[in-house]
Amino acid sequence: MQYQEEQEYNKRFDLGVWKRLIFYAKPFYRHLIAITITMLLCAGFDVIFPLLTREAIDGYVSVGRTEGLGLFALKYMAVVVGQIICIFTFCILSGHVEVGMTRRIREIGFKRFQELPFSFYDQTPVGHMIARMTSDTGRLGETVGWGLIDLFWSAGYIVMTACVMISLNWKMSLMVMLVMPVIAVIAMWFQKRILKNYREVRKTNSKITGSFNEGIMGAKTTKTLVREEANAAEFVELTSTMKAASIRAAVLSALFMPIVSTLGSLAAAYALWKGGYDVFTGAMSFGTLTVFISYTTQIFEPISNIARIFAEMQSAQAAAERVITMIETEPEIADTPEVIEKYGDSFHPKKENWPVIRGDIEFRDVTFRYNSGEKVLSHFNLKIKAGETIALVGETGSGKSTIVNLICRFYEPTEGEILIDGVNYKERSQLWLQSHLGYVLQQPHLFSGTIRENIRYGRLDATDAEVEAAARMVNAEEFILKFEKGYDTDVGEGGNRLSIGQKQLISFARALIADPAIFVLDEATSSVDTETEQIIQEAIKTALSGRTSFIIAHRLSTIRHADRILVIQHGEVTEQGSHAELIRKKGYYYNLYTNQFREERENAILGIRQQS
Ligand SMILES: Nc1ncnc2c1ncn2[C@@H]1O[C@H](COP(=O)(O)OP(=O)(O)OP(=O)(O)O)[C@@H](O)[C@H]1O
Ligand SMILES: [Mg+2]
Repeated sequence: MQYQEEQEYNKRFDLGVWKRLIFYAKPFYRHLIAITITMLLCAGFDVIFPLLTREAIDGYVSVGRTEGLGLFALKYMAVVVGQIICIFTFCILSGHVEVGMTRRIREIGFKRFQELPFSFYDQTPVGHMIARMTSDTGRLGETVGWGLIDLFWSAGYIVMTACVMISLNWKMSLMVMLVMPVIAVIAMWFQKRILKNYREVRKTNSKITGSFNEGIMGAKTTKTLVREEANAAEFVELTSTMKAASIRAAVLSALFMPIVSTLGSLAAAYALWKGGYDVFTGAMSFGTLTVFISYTTQIFEPISNIARIFAEMQSAQAAAERVITMIETEPEIADTPEVIEKYGDSFHPKKENWPVIRGDIEFRDVTFRYNSGEKVLSHFNLKIKAGETIALVGETGSGKSTIVNLICRFYEPTEGEILIDGVNYKERSQLWLQSHLGYVLQQPHLFSGTIRENIRYGRLDATDAEVEAAARMVNAEEFILKFEKGYDTDVGEGGNRLSIGQKQLISFARALIADPAIFVLDEATSSVDTETEQIIQEAIKTALSGRTSFIIAHRLSTIRHADRILVIQHGEVTEQGSHAELIRKKGYYYNLYTNQFREERENAILGIRQQS
């Protein structure tokens, strides 16, 4: 996986990044061209205004003429109207580009997140991904949409002003323009520092958000660990960093504008002094002098604009790189082009070509390690017939979940192959396999919404009656109907208004409703009470018949009825057989079972004694 999180990018301006970003602006090329033209027009109008003033002074005021003044007023009005139209147009165009770009990148990113495999999520913190796709993309849209406007306007304005000034009086123009490079250097210096401080503010701000998040989510743990004081101290440090940086940015901004405008005024003063002299001697008209003065007082604005845009782009460059790297991360588990050609991709499946699944599974010499870890499985072999119910038992960390994750193709074997119905599953599409899978996890995840919606998530066209039947099958109906709103109860974000056991039952029903050929229960009943579990066991027997199923459970009574029990130790099958066979064998399973059985009996007896 190429994606590496959070390098600090402090590189110089890099055109390559912006070229790649502009590729994502492709649907907006026409808008961008229109923006360029509008902005050049806008700059043109801004340059024309002082010339009109000159005409008014030289042609009417100083000679005391009034005839033709109406026509002049019309001309002036036309320029004003032209400018208004330009401003209106560029506001609409830029808004469109900003929002459109942001939306497009987010859409591409969202789609990518759906395709990326588990291993990506093992490595990348969720908070970072969310920040990338929300604040970073927003910033990019803004930079592309509005930064370009300022850039084209400023460049257009500077070039046109320079041309007009030179044509009016080239000697004086050259003198006045000497301040331009000085302003440019000063502007660059300030803008860089201002932005650096703003960046610091933003970075600290996201840390503060993170702190709030942890402070709120971990409030209970904080209390039990007596961490309140330490947490508060860390928080105070963060906020004072942010305060200092904010103040620095404000002071720099406050200094910047007066300095630059003083320089502009100095140039204007020079023009006034030199030009005033020329006006007296008659070498220059009074109108021309006013033109010079307005240009020189205004030209610092486009220059500092350009400085700001470059500084902004340099800092947005980091956001651009992060976003582009993220949306261009190639999923490690991807269907080959041939497979996509035949069976379609996740968003456009070609279901008509999908083979019917039976559910035979074979591990053939599979070796597997997580990204950077040690081997979890080594030359692992296993054959499972369609319809078999397989139970996996073994110590924590022995590799049970890993085996089922591999079957589901959440991860792929590092070496060797896994065959479904005799065919390497890489030759079929991921969606084909995963739409025939039912998976109930140890930590079930529900989506915000009602219980009914959550169960229906398993098969979107299921009727209400089918939803309720599925709930009854796993014996979830009893607790569901205890809620005032029954099936229409809101489960809260991530289902956190329900107990873990309740969430497990709902995700069990959700998996069942899709009628999957392969069913995986990974500690799916670990959080329900013994009584509920017994009822689920009955359900499991009927629900799993005709499906290839895998049950992982620490509570061995759950798996007694499995066709085959596999004891997994250090990624190897060390014992296998039916419950009766393994008990007769008097090995690992026998010991585990008798210990647990004795414990349960003792608990039961203790329970009875306590009650009486
Ligand atoms: N996402 C992961 N990234 C890296 N290593 C992992 C990951 N998941 C599991 N492992 C490692 O792989 C090994 C097998 O883990 P696995 O989850 O398969 O165990 P398990 O038998 O399901 O355990 P348990 O009974 O506690 O659920 C462990 O050593 C674990 O640390
Ligand atoms: Mg596990």
